[in-house]
Amino acid sequence: MLYFLLVLSGLSSLNALSQKILATQIISNDGYPVETHSVKTTDENHLTMFRIPYSPKLKLSEDNGKTSKRIALLVHGASSSSDCFILNGPENSMAYILADAGYDVWLANCRGNRYSNKDMITWDFTFDQMAKYDMPAMIDYALNLTGQTDLHYIAHSQGTTIYFALLSSFPRYNKVIRTAHLLAPAAYMNNIKLPVMKFLGYFYGFSPTLHSLVRGYNFWPDFTTELFAMLGAWACQEKQTTRHICSNLLFSVCGYNPDRLNYSLLPKVMATHPSGVSTRQTVHFSQLYVTGKFSKYDYGYLGNWFKYGQWTPPEYNTENIEARTYIYYADNDYLSAPDDVFRIAREIKNVCLYHKLPDKSWNHMDYLWSTEVKQYINEPLRDYMLEFDSDRLRDCGSLED
Ligand SMILES: *[C@@H]1O[C@H](CO)[C@@H](O)[C@H](O)[C@H]1NC(C)=O
Ligand SMILES: *[C@@H]1O[C@H](CO)[C@@H](O)[C@H](O)[C@H]1NC(C)=O
Repeated sequence: MLYFLLVLSGLSSLNALSQKILATQIISNDGYPVETHSVKTTDENHLTMFRIPYSPKLKLSEDNGKTSKRIALLVHGASSSSDCFILNGPENSMAYILADAGYDVWLANCRGNRYSNKDMITWDFTFDQMAKYDMPAMIDYALNLTGQTDLHYIAHSQGTTIYFALLSSFPRYNKVIRTAHLLAPAAYMNNIKLPVMKFLGYFYGFSPTLHSLVRGYNFWPDFTTELFAMLGAWACQEKQTTRHICSNLLFSVCGYNPDRLNYSLLPKVMATHPSGVSTRQTVHFSQLYVTGKFSKYDYGYLGNWFKYGQWTPPEYNTENIEARTYIYYADNDYLSAPDDVFRIAREIKNVCLYHKLPDKSWNHMDYLWSTEVKQYINEPLRDYMLEFDSDRLRDCGSLED
């Protein structure tokens, strides 16, 4: 809906007003070392990973932080980028908190986002391709470069969808995941409460034949990004009375929680979001919402036959998922509804923990941008990782209800 309003407003040359900030600048300004790595997928896409190899707050070992550290791989959600883990400043951001705890922090960027779409040939992709090409390429790259054999996987929203799809399709990656921390897990989606999603569901979710006609293109054309940045610079400033316009835009997409949103973060969020997302990604999510299945993209009967050799899209084999998984969920999450979260959690083998947010109004974006994200997410998550790494033998298991 928001999107259509923005398109209607038809503003297209706002370059001068927007303030583009890039991850490398943010990380250096925050006082941390940063490396940029270009990773090529087997289908010829070029992705960008950022790495924070060590924390300046820790005493460096003689070799300047080159000793082998355990990897923490951070994976962003749809329409976002690795920026979501570094915007909260040096004291509160997930990436820095993990670097300070001694982890070698790698920030993933999936195809289509603001860091990885440089050579994008086609926008015909959904999370299916991210699980098939992007995540294996990025994981293999980081392991190979560091000589590590496994890593901690930390993901928000679509980053968790990719995790479920990756391990369902390529069970060999179970061994590569030391622990996985899934913030607002999303596989089954039929209990989504989001009004926009319901609207889109009816609009696109029902006719696969229609989807076969949907060409892949960027759901957020460049000028919308510019527009957001401009709005951010103007309306979202902390002291502006207009900042409510800004927060309401966000709430309409993510659920309502005015008390805990970090308002001083809004200009930065608007300057870096939305990051590219393909039209097919949005259609795929509506399909999952309408069908209640966790399956690959539905190209329509004929399209499926050509693509998959069957009339209907294959469902993911979630019983293949065996890595140690920590689930973070909340009652007020419009996108990752508890019923859907429990459904996938019951299907996978090794759930170590359900971390339920005590705040009844905690929503989908609070995992990133709540004023209390450090206390309720970042620090507990870090402590679970440290605990696991200090007494390795902690075993999890199937938690039946
Ligand atoms: C792994 O790293 C070595 C050098 O460190 C490089 O020659 C090789 O191509 C890499 N392999 C992959 C799959 O990236
Ligand atoms: C809120 O955002 C600002 C601006 O990025 C940041 O400096 C601050 O640490 C954040 N506060 C919390 C509690 O996360």
